[in-house]
Amino acid sequence: IDELLTEGVAGKRVFVRADLNVPLDGTTITDDGRIRAVAPTIAKLAAAGARVIVASHLGRPKGAPDPAFSLAPAAARLGELLGTEVAFATDTVGDSARATVAALTDGHVAVIENLRFNAGETSKDDAERGAFADQLAELADLYVGDGFGAVHRKHASVFDLPARLPHAAGDLIATEVGVLKKLTEDVERPYAVVLGGSKVSDKLGVIDHLLERADRILIGGGMAYTFLKAQGHEVGSSLLQEDQIPAVLKYLKRAEEKGVEFVLPVDVVVSERFPDLKSKGPSHPVTVAADAIPAGSMGLDNGPETNALYAAKLADAATVFWNGPMGVFEHPDYAEGTRAVAQALVDSPAFSVVGGGDSAAAVRILGFDENAFGHISTGGGASLEYLEGKTLPGLAALED
Ligand code: 3PG
Repeated sequence: IDELLTEGVAGKRVFVRADLNVPLDGTTITDDGRIRAVAPTIAKLAAAGARVIVASHLGRPKGAPDPAFSLAPAAARLGELLGTEVAFATDTVGDSARATVAALTDGHVAVIENLRFNAGETSKDDAERGAFADQLAELADLYVGDGFGAVHRKHASVFDLPARLPHAAGDLIATEVGVLKKLTEDVERPYAVVLGGSKVSDKLGVIDHLLERADRILIGGGMAYTFLKAQGHEVGSSLLQEDQIPAVLKYLKRAEEKGVEFVLPVDVVVSERFPDLKSKGPSHPVTVAADAIPAGSMGLDNGPETNALYAAKLADAATVFWNGPMGVFEHPDYAEGTRAVAQALVDSPAFSVVGGGDSAAAVRILGFDENAFGHISTGGGASLEYLEGKTLPGLAALED
C-alpha cells in the first residue's frame, strides 16, 4: 500500500478487505490473531487520513443475516487494538452501512457487517457476485486487499470488487506471500513438512506438490488414520476416509520412488468416545501402538513415542512448514501431540512457518510465544493452495 500512501489517501474512503474470521465462543473471541495481523494496515491508512471501511466474512452463514455470525465482537476487538473508537454498521450495503460510511471522518475506521450475510458474496454466478460488488464499490474510492486467509475464495469482495476500484495489496498479504514464496522458490534444506487436521482429501493437492520439494513429510491428526489403514492397520472407530486410500497408496509409492521420507505415528492416544470439549471433563485416554488400535477406540492424538520421533525429525531441518493440529488439542488429554510439534519448532533452528487457522490458533491457545516461530500465517486453505501452486483469485485480482 505504500504506493497508495504516496499518492495520498487523506479524505479517501478506503475499503479494506480483511479476514476477521476468528474463532468465537458465543461472543467471546478465543483467538484474535487474525485481527492483530491486519490491524497495522488499518492503522497505517487511518494515520494517513483515510476513511477506512473494514469488511470481512465470519463463519459460513447462509447468505442472510444471522446474529450468531455477527462481526460486532471482532469490530470491538479491532477498536481495542487500534486504541480508537471503531464505528460498526449493522448491515453490509444497506442504510446502516451507507450512513456509517457517510459519517466517517478522516483518519477514522468503520467495520461493516459480515459480507456473507449477502448471497452475492459467495455466489457462483458471475452476474450475482458482480451486482453485489457494484454495491460494495459505491461505498469506497479505493480498495486494499489484506484478507490473506480468504484469497483462495473467488468471492465478490475478494475477486470482483478490486476490478471496480483502484487497488493495492496490504502489508499482511505482502508479508504472507513473501514467506510462502520462500517455501516454493528457494527453500533451504532439509525441508520438513508436518501435516495434520482431520481430512486427507483437503491435503492431497499439497502432498502432490510437496513430493517434488520436501525431504520429509510427517503426518498426524485425524488424517493419519487413513494413512495407517492404507498400510493395512486396523484403526478402530478413528476418523477414516476410506475412499482416499487409493490416492494415499499412490502418494506413499511416489514418495518412496522420489526418496521423500513419509513419517507416520508409531503410537497414538485413543479413547472409546470423543471427548467433551465444553466441559473438558475426564475422557479415559489410553496410549496404544499405532498398529494395535482396539476395535471401538478412536485415535485422538499422537502418542509419546511419536512425539519424540517427530521432534527428532524436525531437529535438523532447515525449513519447516506445519499445517493442521496433531490431535484434538482443545481437550487437555489430547493436546500433547500438537504441543510437542510446536515445542520442536521452537527448539529447532529451522525457519518455521505455521500455516492454518487451526494450527496457528493452537500455538497461541497452548501458550507459545508467536515470536518463537519464523512466521505464523493467517491463512489455512489459502496457504495450502498457495503451496499447491494454484492461482489464488484474491491475489490475481490485485496483481495488475
Ligand atoms: C479460513 O478460516 O480459512 C478463512 O477465513 C476462509 O474461510 P472459509 O473457508 O469459510 O472460506
